[in-house]
Amino acid sequence: MTSPSRSKAWQKLASHYLNLHQNGTTIAKLFKTDKDRFAHYQSSLEGVFFDYSKNLADAQTMQLLRKLAEEAGLAEAISAMYAGAKINVTEDRPALHVALRTPLENADPSFNAAVASTLKQMEAFVARVHSGAWTGYSGKAIADVVNIGIGGSDLGPAMVTEALQRWQLPQLSTHFVSNVDPAHMRSTLAKLNPETTLFVIASKSFNTLETHQNAALARRWYLENGGDEAQIAQHFVAVSANVDKAKAFGIAQENIFPLWDWVGGRYSLWSAIGLPIALSVGMEQFRSLLKGARIADEHFRDTPFDDNIPVIMGLLSVWYSGFVGATSQAILPYSQELHLFPSFLQQLEMESLGKSVEVDGNRLLVPSGPIVWGSAGTNGQHSFHQLLHQGTHYIPADFIGIVKTAFAEDADQHAHLLANCFSQSQALMQGKSQRQAFTELLEQGKEEGPAYELAKHKVIPGNKPSNTLLLDELSPQTLGSLIAIYEHKVFVESVIWHINAFDQWGVELGKQLGETLYGALTSEQDCAQFDSSTNGLINHCRNNNA
Ligand code: F6P
Repeated sequence: MTSPSRSKAWQKLASHYLNLHQNGTTIAKLFKTDKDRFAHYQSSLEGVFFDYSKNLADAQTMQLLRKLAEEAGLAEAISAMYAGAKINVTEDRPALHVALRTPLENADPSFNAAVASTLKQMEAFVARVHSGAWTGYSGKAIADVVNIGIGGSDLGPAMVTEALQRWQLPQLSTHFVSNVDPAHMRSTLAKLNPETTLFVIASKSFNTLETHQNAALARRWYLENGGDEAQIAQHFVAVSANVDKAKAFGIAQENIFPLWDWVGGRYSLWSAIGLPIALSVGMEQFRSLLKGARIADEHFRDTPFDDNIPVIMGLLSVWYSGFVGATSQAILPYSQELHLFPSFLQQLEMESLGKSVEVDGNRLLVPSGPIVWGSAGTNGQHSFHQLLHQGTHYIPADFIGIVKTAFAEDADQHAHLLANCFSQSQALMQGKSQRQAFTELLEQGKEEGPAYELAKHKVIPGNKPSNTLLLDELSPQTLGSLIAIYEHKVFVESVIWHINAFDQWGVELGKQLGETLYGALTSEQDCAQFDSSTNGLINHCRNNNA
């Protein structure tokens, strides 16, 4: 892996972008010069179709980007990841989320064994809960599962459970509590009965303030509402890499599902962190999710770069942030069931790529990970698409569509959803000129003068790039493939930028300061030891919260 700023391909891409700009190249013109552009800029894997023709990129762009990948040692980095090399260099660990769903051929067999035995432990537990063999203190079957976790111990499981709600088993409801704000846990508990509620404490470190606070609150609620302390073990299980801390909290050893330091939190939904998914939809569907990810893993490992979906997506993202000036990326799933996907991707992308130091400790001299945001379509069209179409920011977008709706009787309505998905990417690409707007207004009967003035406000610049991913249907398998595609896309970007996608030192300072300020907020004395803003805010709360 080498630094991008010392790469020849990087310099060539910089001049290439200048040429495109000076020649007035637009995406619309690229379609005019290549009648088969759609056919030339697409790829697929089982259940997923990828169209990247609406990008500001021609054959030379893609060729130079692949050269950049070659100079960055992408192929070697992929092999190293799959072989269990310690590529998470600052924590001296492998990054082996692929092992959670794809048996490794070149890594130590102990990884595969650990994964297989944990899946067995999950399967046995899920079967007992579903059959009613696992009961609460009063002998009743579990009716509600509450996952207590945050970040990677919440976002992935919550997003997948929401997306697969059509497979949710009738006997169980699943809830996710993450925020330390007591309102989150209290509003959830208000609906629940301690006799039939199972808490899953999900925390890789078992050191996370929010999760500790919420787990303690849940335990108080259980005991204060009739829960039998002698049988509390029936109501609390844990998923953690820190078995000692989980046991210290009071979780029975046999109710702790292992996690390992070679799985990053934001890459962990495939592990026992996915227990709420398996409890919600069953182990068969959970294994289907894993199969989908395996299909993407094998595609990423074995497909030449010019057809490799995560490689193409990652290289295009580097192109837009490094050369075209994009600072954010919109994720637009045209699927209500995928409405949590942008929030999930925010952690996966921004906690992995929000870095400014290269793996060798040198400052990164090029822009790294963009701001990732978005929401389900068509709702975004009535919220922020105005900015996408007429704003001053250059924001590449990923559209995600579902070819076949699960609601066959509403296929016609689903056609409206797809039509909007495609029309939005078309509008972003082709825009509308002032002349077109002026002509339209005249045809609507507007007087020339007012039409001329109003037309200036109706110009859509266009030439805005997008990718479109189409899932044959939304199923556990295609969802698994979609998520894994993005995991690998993020890895590609990290290799090109020569950064570590698997650590997150940036979150430490906030946590440290938080503990100090908690002490100040809850102390007897007024606060005077910090800056005047922090002192003022703390004292305002102390004085108004006596
Ligand atoms: O945000 C920091 C972080 O460590 C994430 O990387 C992680 O997913 C989250 O907090 C929760 O950590 P844990 O699973 O250890 O409670």
